[in-house]
Amino acid sequence: MNQKTTMLSSELNTYWGEVANTFQWKKKWDTIQTGNFTDVNVEWFKGGQLNITENCLDRHLEKRRQKKALIFEPNNPNEAAAFYTFGELHIAVSRFANLLKKKGIKKGDVVCFYMGMTPELMIGLLACARIGAIHTVVFGGFSPQSLFGRLIDSKAKLIVTHDGAYRGDKVTPLKSMVDEALAMNTDKEKTSVETVIIVRRTNNDVDVVAGRDYFYDVLIKDCDLHCPAEVMEAEDPLFILYTSGSTGKPKGLLHTIAGYMVHVGNSFKDVFQIKENDVFWCTADIGWITGHSYLTYGPLLNGTTTIMFEGIPNYPTPARFWEVVEKHQITHLYTAPTAIRSLEKFGVEIPDSFPMKSLKVLGSVGEPINEEAWQWYHKHVGKNKCPIVDTWWQTETGGIMISPLAGITKLKPAHATLPLKGIVPILVDEKGNIVTELVASGNLCINTPWPSLARTIYGDHERFKQTYFSTYKDLYFTGDGAKRDADGFFRITGRVDDVINVSGHRIGTAEVEEAINENPHVTESAVVGFPHPIKGQGIYAFVTCNDHFDHPEDLEKDIRETVQKIIGPIAKPDVIQIVLGLPKTRSGKIMRRILRKIVENDLENIGDTSTLLNPECVDLIIEGKK
Ligand code: WTA
Repeated sequence: MNQKTTMLSSELNTYWGEVANTFQWKKKWDTIQTGNFTDVNVEWFKGGQLNITENCLDRHLEKRRQKKALIFEPNNPNEAAAFYTFGELHIAVSRFANLLKKKGIKKGDVVCFYMGMTPELMIGLLACARIGAIHTVVFGGFSPQSLFGRLIDSKAKLIVTHDGAYRGDKVTPLKSMVDEALAMNTDKEKTSVETVIIVRRTNNDVDVVAGRDYFYDVLIKDCDLHCPAEVMEAEDPLFILYTSGSTGKPKGLLHTIAGYMVHVGNSFKDVFQIKENDVFWCTADIGWITGHSYLTYGPLLNGTTTIMFEGIPNYPTPARFWEVVEKHQITHLYTAPTAIRSLEKFGVEIPDSFPMKSLKVLGSVGEPINEEAWQWYHKHVGKNKCPIVDTWWQTETGGIMISPLAGITKLKPAHATLPLKGIVPILVDEKGNIVTELVASGNLCINTPWPSLARTIYGDHERFKQTYFSTYKDLYFTGDGAKRDADGFFRITGRVDDVINVSGHRIGTAEVEEAINENPHVTESAVVGFPHPIKGQGIYAFVTCNDHFDHPEDLEKDIRETVQKIIGPIAKPDVIQIVLGLPKTRSGKIMRRILRKIVENDLENIGDTSTLLNPECVDLIIEGKK
């Protein structure tokens, strides 16, 4: 397969039609693609009918009923792993689907998952898809308040949670966090949650509200093993997934069934060059898009064995990843640069003592991978024999957009290389002109529609249009900057908007500022990303406050707690600098660009500060920099 083909739009459609033909449809589509980026009304495979779970499960039953579909590796290595064959997973999904039906969930209803990484999470998502319900997973690292906001926005009717979730040596009491979220209901702002399903995992004590809360193990016993797959239209919603943007309010990206399935299933096969007996390990949490597309749907659509790991890379020891690779004879390891860098610091002796002969392909996702981490991964994990696929994509794109094809595309460390077939990325300069030179840098846009593009921001199509399609006419703007070299290879340089990427998690600076400002001692704040040796980027907060503190550390602690409460532990600032004033334009706009230069130690490029409202504060900030 030639990754370099430049395709005309008619050829693009023919190509996507051919790809779609490799899936199982109840009725074929009438049109391959309609709509455009000008009107922001893209649709794919209209008129087609299908159920994605028949593609993930039923169609494999004839040949793969006894093949392992899912391997569950628990947090604690002393606990036995669990296995589901395709036959067993099909039954488990059908039963869970019947449970949802019994609790009144119908096609089009939204079901929220706030769970640790156990098989019930994956089974639950597929159960929704089976009956045409829309799933929305909220990562367990988000606070009850964040959960509440997402429940309000998505209008979820039912929530599935754990009594508690294991993560390393910690237990997160998810059910009580759900209780806290639901207690935030007021007459003005009320969630639509009618039912809470509790999956037992840690045996934490939980409160049970009669008529609302039920234990999964009790209900599932009476659920039938058969559940017909609902006939779904191609453009019916499959899921909503929240991600951060430039404003404070998270965006619920909505993905629809057929287009998502076609690109995710196909890109999984092509990028990873999957073979029948491969065992695929994506280390992402299902709370993120990577866990949706390449831990759940991508592998299952291809009949591939996928592994779900409940734990974290360094628990109980930093050898855990390599032990799991050996234990389950993993062939493909797909992880984030942050995980690699965090293991790198424990020394090469650890991975070097594991031969990891089963490994064939390594993958990287979520943030730019620096060359050093790439080399370490290649040498000490891949033993210089496994290609690394550096896959660039986003929650919004649904599936991988730019990536080498394992073993086919020439590798270049830290480069996502070439677009996948059917994907047309371009670079745009500051003026909005398409850059025609081959060797160039610019803002990364996508020129033509592709099937797994999110269709909207749930409940706010205007914001969807504004965010992605208004910066550059007729183009999808990714929010990333990129460089292109003489081979036409792309290197993604990072976000160019107010989003920071902390350990591969997207966090909006505005979101963190809003949380910090909730602290009663804080007057104003400005948050920027700074280069962090392990996390890629860290969160640096500049704060002005209305009181004098003899011990600023107390205030810093208090601010961190505020952020933890409002967003969750993942958004806690790494550095807080209390300042007397923030640099502002005469119109009162905070100049984050200046703060960014300060935290990057790029003082030469701060630019002219004399036109600021309060130029004197810049020197003070530089002096007090941590
Ligand atoms: C960044 C994760 C460089 C990028 C799949 C993007 C990357 C954001 C890469 C999306 C990569 C993802 N190289 N940067 N290979 N992959 N990114 O929505 O900034 O959680 O815009 O999706 O992560 O993050 P999201």
